[in-house]
Amino acid sequence: MITVRVPLGDRSYDVLVGHGSRSELAGLLPSTARRAAVVTQEGIPIDVDPGLPTEVFTIGQGETHKSLATIEELSRGFARFGMTRNDVVIGVGGGMVTDVAGFAAASWHRGVAVVHVSTTLVGMVDAAIGGKTGVNLPAGTDGIGGKNLIGAYWQPSGVVCDLDSLATLPPREVRCGRGEMAKYHFLTGDDLLAMDETERIARCVEIKADVVSSDERESGRRALLNYGHTLAHALEIETDYSLAHGEAVAVGLIYAAHLAHNLGRIGQRRVDQHYEIVGGSYELDTTLPAGLDPQRLIELMGRDKKALSDGLTFVLDGPAGVEVVTGVSVDAANDALGAMTAAR
Ligand code: GLY
Repeated sequence: MITVRVPLGDRSYDVLVGHGSRSELAGLLPSTARRAAVVTQEGIPIDVDPGLPTEVFTIGQGETHKSLATIEELSRGFARFGMTRNDVVIGVGGGMVTDVAGFAAASWHRGVAVVHVSTTLVGMVDAAIGGKTGVNLPAGTDGIGGKNLIGAYWQPSGVVCDLDSLATLPPREVRCGRGEMAKYHFLTGDDLLAMDETERIARCVEIKADVVSSDERESGRRALLNYGHTLAHALEIETDYSLAHGEAVAVGLIYAAHLAHNLGRIGQRRVDQHYEIVGGSYELDTTLPAGLDPQRLIELMGRDKKALSDGLTFVLDGPAGVEVVTGVSVDAANDALGAMTAAR
């Protein structure tokens, strides 16, 4: 087992990566806890033993359940269970579970401890690490809403990445995890695929821990973790989530390379490398799904009208590596979509 420390002063915590690491869960719980509320979903392939009186709360599957209604339901359950501010919430599942469990913990009694037991590759290398928690705001009658708009930064007290849970992961979930890993490849240049599974996941955790510890609340460097994500979020929405997050990130990384090339930030060789790494090494689909309206994608990437007039913001590769680039024109964003389609 590999232990990775997330260094955040008196809120530092350990991430335990390895087969069977869930057996160490009890050691991550705060000593004050007298009860554990396990938040999970049907079909999660891991049982945990917190060593404390435990009640299991099962939340629904799918983005519609990532909602304030679920937080209310959990809070009522916590109240019935007698959860005090000294007790602990344990999120057992993928990114949706840990986001929701984390936010429920952040709000219960203004904040109780949470420990995550991550059961998916995306969760282990990204979602469970770094303290971003939250739920979606569904679109109102005015059409306004969005993913993860309601939430809090609430660091866990520990994270368990038990690789046993990856054995039963559907191929699609594996692809999603690989999309996030490909992102880390471009952020660091690490040859993650040359490592064994435990080392590879631990290295991804270490990269994320390093970024988070230097910019917990995303006022700068943490935004680099969004490499490939600007188009990815737009694709997820426009395909009604038929393109899953990591699959969309893979396409988004290729788009970011075309855009950086169009802006003169990188040469064609580097664009080709993006195809080789994402499509070749990580075996992910790099094509922009057919039939999507480019204007709508640009609108979603711009997020608001001001961005469309003042320029869009992307995380882009360049001579100094991957960095945040503001003021990108709609024309440049559009041309990169065209270049991607032409390269198909
Ligand atoms: N998933 C990106 C972040 O945690 O900042």
